[in-house]
Amino acid sequence: MNANWKQTYPGYADEIQEVIISQEQIQAKVQALGKTIAQDYQGRNPLLVGVLKGVLFFFADLLREISIPVEMDFIAVSSYSSESRDQGSVRLVNDLDIRIHNRHILFVEDVIDTGLTLNYILQNLRSRQPASLEVCALFNKPDHRLIDIPLRYKGFDLPDKFVVGYGLDFKEKFRNLPFIGLLKASTIQNRVNPER
Ligand code: IMP
Ligand code: MG
Repeated sequence: MNANWKQTYPGYADEIQEVIISQEQIQAKVQALGKTIAQDYQGRNPLLVGVLKGVLFFFADLLREISIPVEMDFIAVSSYSSESRDQGSVRLVNDLDIRIHNRHILFVEDVIDTGLTLNYILQNLRSRQPASLEVCALFNKPDHRLIDIPLRYKGFDLPDKFVVGYGLDFKEKFRNLPFIGLLKASTIQNRVNPER
């Protein structure tokens, strides 16, 4: 895949500078995470919770690598404004369907950057008194962390660069690439202000 991805995704060929994490590396990591989670949560009927859209592919792949019974649910959030987002103030626009009181909750996240959004969400979930609440993130950007997030399961540390693929977007595009790539500077300049 890596060698000839430009033939598979010609519409993106001119915009990706470099593949930094391959499809195979991602698959191997997701398998390993799923195996560990299955061992740790044996007999605990965990509920895995995600926030769309970025986590879509990781969530789907991870759940299928977990060999014990699990349940899934999603929340939808939106930032109040670009200013308040700096304080991590987000609004829940769609809540969980499933009650989490006394349940073992594993929050699944695509990438953690400042940690502000996730911190807000975790506080909200914690107030409902789950039996346990842990975080599994596929990608971690430690350089920009403003709030300490207890990360029980982690895939890859990323450099402080804007990346796309495997669910991560730039202006809603590139999510469908099966690897993690760096964007060319020309793409970022042409479409000012990446929305996160
Ligand atoms: P934060 O941890 O509150 O700063 O926000 C993390 C969110 O920012 C993630 O859920 C992504 O939606 C987005 N994000 C952070 N870094 C990247 C990136 O490199 N590419 C695409 N989205 C990103
Ligand atoms: Mg996200």
